[in-house]
Amino acid sequence: MGGGTTLVEASVIGRRAIGTDISSLASFISKVKTTILCDDDLENVVLWVENISGDLNLHKSPVRAIEWLEKGYQRNISGKGTWPIRKLLELALSEVLRLSTPSQQNFVRCLLLKTAQWALDCRGKIPTATEFRQQLLIFLDEMVYGALEYRNAIKNSWGDYRFNNSFPTLCLNKSIIGFEEEYRSICNKPPKLIVTSPPYPNVHVLYHRWQVQGRKETPAPYWIANLEDGNGSSFYTFGPRYQKGLKTYFEMVTKAFLSISKLVDDKTILIQMISFPEPSWQLSKYLDVMEETGFQEIFLPGVKNSSDGRLWRQVPNRRWYANKQEGLLTSSEVVLCHKKQ
Ligand SMILES: C[S@@+](CC[C@H](N)C(=O)[O-])C[C@H]1O[C@@H](n2cnc3c(N)ncnc32)[C@H](O)[C@@H]1O
Repeated sequence: MGGGTTLVEASVIGRRAIGTDISSLASFISKVKTTILCDDDLENVVLWVENISGDLNLHKSPVRAIEWLEKGYQRNISGKGTWPIRKLLELALSEVLRLSTPSQQNFVRCLLLKTAQWALDCRGKIPTATEFRQQLLIFLDEMVYGALEYRNAIKNSWGDYRFNNSFPTLCLNKSIIGFEEEYRSICNKPPKLIVTSPPYPNVHVLYHRWQVQGRKETPAPYWIANLEDGNGSSFYTFGPRYQKGLKTYFEMVTKAFLSISKLVDDKTILIQMISFPEPSWQLSKYLDVMEETGFQEIFLPGVKNSSDGRLWRQVPNRRWYANKQEGLLTSSEVVLCHKKQ
């Protein structure tokens, strides 16, 4: 699922969609993005932000999140430049339970997550309290607008979704490995389409950490979202980054596609987007795994100007490159299409 875009796009065009991700944070964000909020929910959220934003100032008595602090979730955000943002977050989070429903509470947690990421993650200068408050209101506007747009699009595709049992979409915090059993208990037909962007070989994107003032990592997103973490980056990325031959990576890819092959039929289309830092051997090895797990590559007739018949794109300034982990400025990503053999 990652950030949930596939589920959003699927549901607005009227597809029943099921998403899985082993990251609780990815599942949380996807859930918030695909939740339909009524006018009452949105009014309460806007009122809540208006009420608390006056109190978000550094002269207020602190409300320390002791339990989270003791468990290490505030690591690297209490330094000279960062403590004001941490304090504002503590003040705001201490008021979340004033909102009456989990949907409203999760929406404002997501708003705080977005604002805190803007303030702390991968930036040189940490913003002031005033700038933080201003940005909170900008993101509030964007998110409320997005929620209204989503609700209207769902109404257009699904009619009155409140009486339609086949909605909502499902966001599951589960591994795809072994998911075939559960899939059958949710749905009695094979999926028509599977869309995935699996972890990329050699690339460790720290979706579960923010990098504060240089390369100091913080697990603070879990505190803000009210979720537990405890997994290292190789948990989310199919294994260690620099292993010779990427043995664990390819073992995990094999397990994942074996599970997928058990829940599809020969009409299911499987589309994936993936990047290979060393395509010369990694792409062919990856395609071997697809074949071994029962998939046959198909080529889209509309793909022109491509030497190998696949769709490629160049992506400048991806986050991991921006962090100079690889020393490159651009990554090449390819779209692969498969069907069961
Ligand atoms: C390369 S990211 C792509 C995410 C998405 N395309 C995006 O841009 O946000 C890979 C995603 O796969 C998830 N993931 C890793 N192992 C998984 C597994 N065994 N089952 C389900 N999801 C997994 C990670 O948590 C991460 O969100």
